[in-house]
Formats: sequence, C-alpha cells, structure tokens
Amino acid sequence: MIATVSAGRPVSITGLGCKVPDRIVTNEELAKFVDTSDEWIVERTGIRERRMADDAEALSDVALPACVDALAQAGLEGADIDLLIVATVTPDMAFPSTAAILADKLGATSAAAYDLSAGCTGFVYALAQSYGMVAGGVAKRALVVGGDLLSRILDWDDRSTLVLFGDGAGAVVLEAVPDHGFVGFELGADGAGGQSLWLPGSGSRLFDESEKYVKMNGREVFKFATRILVQSAEDLLAKCEVSIDDVDLYIPHQANMRIIDHATRKLGVPSDRVVINVDRYGNTSSGSIPLALADAAADGRLRPGQLVLMTGMGAGLTWGSALIRWTKEMAA
Ligand code: ACO
Repeated sequence: MIATVSAGRPVSITGLGCKVPDRIVTNEELAKFVDTSDEWIVERTGIRERRMADDAEALSDVALPACVDALAQAGLEGADIDLLIVATVTPDMAFPSTAAILADKLGATSAAAYDLSAGCTGFVYALAQSYGMVAGGVAKRALVVGGDLLSRILDWDDRSTLVLFGDGAGAVVLEAVPDHGFVGFELGADGAGGQSLWLPGSGSRLFDESEKYVKMNGREVFKFATRILVQSAEDLLAKCEVSIDDVDLYIPHQANMRIIDHATRKLGVPSDRVVINVDRYGNTSSGSIPLALADAAADGRLRPGQLVLMTGMGAGLTWGSALIRWTKEMAA
C-alpha cells in the first residue's frame, strides 16, 4: 500500500510523550545470564544498555505517563480523544485490549479503543490508520501509542535474542491542522517470511511450553531489514516526489546500529539527520520510533516545518514508512 495524502485535509502530530521503565540493564548484567560480552554486543548491535520493566509493571503502566504527556502537550484531556490505538505485541493481556485499559485510565470515555499487531512496524501502521480516520472525519482526535515490554517474551537462555531488546513506549496525538502534517505512507507485509521472527506459542495454535519465547533467524532478519528500510523509504519518497536531500530528520526503526548505518549510507542521509536511541534503549519494538521522536524533540532537532521520514520493519514480516511535515514546536 502506498499513497500520498496531499488531497486529504491536513492532519498532524500535535502532542508527543514517551516513557521507559526506570530499571537500566547493562550488557555486563546480561553477561551473567548468557555467554556474551559488552564488547560483542556493542560491536554487533551498537546497544550499550536497555530498560526493563519491573515485575509489577505491565505495558499500560509504562504507556500511561506517555499518553498523559502527549495529551498535555496537545492541550487536550482524555475525554477529547475519540480514537485510541495501541500498537504492540506485548499487551497487558489478550483482552481487554491495552487500548481499552488506557482509555479507562485516561477518562477517554468517547474513544474507540483497540490494539494493533504489526510487530515493530505497529506504530507506523497505527499512524496511517489513525491518519485515515481523522482525515476522513471518522475521528476528530486520535491518541496513538507504540510500546512493548519485550523483556516479558525473551528467553533468558538465548543469547541471540536476549541482548537485542528493551522495554518502552511513546504516544502521539493526531488531529486536523491548518497546514503541513502527513505527506504519505508506504506499508507492506510478507507473511512468507513470518517464521524468521516469531512467537509461536502465543495464540490459538498449540505448541510446546518451550515455544513461548521470541524465536529469530538473525541473519534472515538482518538481510530483510537492510533491504526493506531502504526500499520502503525510497518508494515513498519517489511517490511523494521528494528527494532524500529534502528530508531533515530520518527516524529508522532502532533494531541494530549496523542495520541503521547500512540504510543511512544507502539512502544518502547525513549522519547528523539520523535519530539514534538503540544504544540506550535497545530494540523497543513499536516503541522505538515514538521514543526517537521524543528524543529529537527534547534535544531541539525536531522543529516546525521540518520534513521527517520514519521507517519501521519487524515481525510479520512487516514494514512501513511515514513522511510528515512537522507542524508544532515541541522542545521541552
Ligand atoms: N554474544 C556472543 N555471541 C553471540 C551472541 C551474543 N549475544 N549472539 C550470537 N552470537 C554468536 C553466534 O552464536 C555465532 O556463533 P558461531 O559462529 O559460533 O555460530 C556468532 O555470534 C555469529 O553469529 P551471527 O548470527 O552471524 O552474528 P551477526 O553478526 O549476524 O549478529 C545479530 C547477530 C546481532 C542478531 C544480527 O544478525 C542482527 O542484528 N539481526 C537482526 C536482528 C533484528 O534486528 N531483529 C529484530 C528486528 S525486527 C524487530 O524489531 C522485531
């Protein structure tokens, strides 16, 4: 699916919030559980530390402060929201949805609320979906959350996955604006590659007890990621008739520094236009792009008028890019 949205009414992000759990887990700590080292992890992934939720925390607990901040920045309250989507593969539970739990906690009593499953690409999918609802007049104001507690589904005996992931969530408010806003989306999925990155024992298909953790063919995912980050971005830029030189800020999914470096080089994005948080947070799945947006807002790099390109990829296998002309000042 690929589209420019220049014909629709302008819709943009007017509020942004993020939250990571307080607990920092370093590479050295993980080396106490599996045969790995800080040196290996930093060299192969760029990850130095990640955050992990406490036992008492569920995704909704981590996401709630992000939602509160996003609403406050947009000058809204929960009751003003009529659409709440949570993109995640680690909801509090299968049902009720984490979106419904958050809607209750936020007083969003008028909101349609549901979770969306598209792996690490979930946030970009949810942006596209909520854009469509707001631009089409089905919803007035949407709250979109991207967040995961992947630490809950990791095998602490598997060094090939344990070191890669972390926990965190971000939230954005979408509403109609006078000008600027979303420019286009490109989304896709390839189910044939699904078993390169999967969580077999997590649904109605029965598996052994041992299949309840993330399983990954790292090399296949690496090949997919390096190809699709570039292809999706190039396809969307071509469709929108925008040159990569016009992109002020590039926010790729934060899976691995080597994957990001490859995409950045191939696309020809100068390194000072790339937002990186994988070193501090690891791969936070659908939290990675909104967390990076919040980082860029906090350090003053995300400014009104800038063209921002976000590209996600992940389990499914899925991918998605969104291009937005940023509307609002959000520096802390
Ligand atoms: N510590 C030490 N050694 C390790 C570790 C570890 N944590 N993990 C794997 N190794 C070993 C392997 O066992 C292998 O040993 P062997 O040669 O004796 O068999 C060796 O390191 C090399 O393994 P490779 O898989 O070739 O290592 P590679 O350089 O490809 O890096 C990695 C592995 C980091 C997993 C890489 O393949 C990768 O990043 N893949 C993409 C993963 C990813 O991004 N997943 C999520 C994306 S989608 C989403 O976000 C949900």
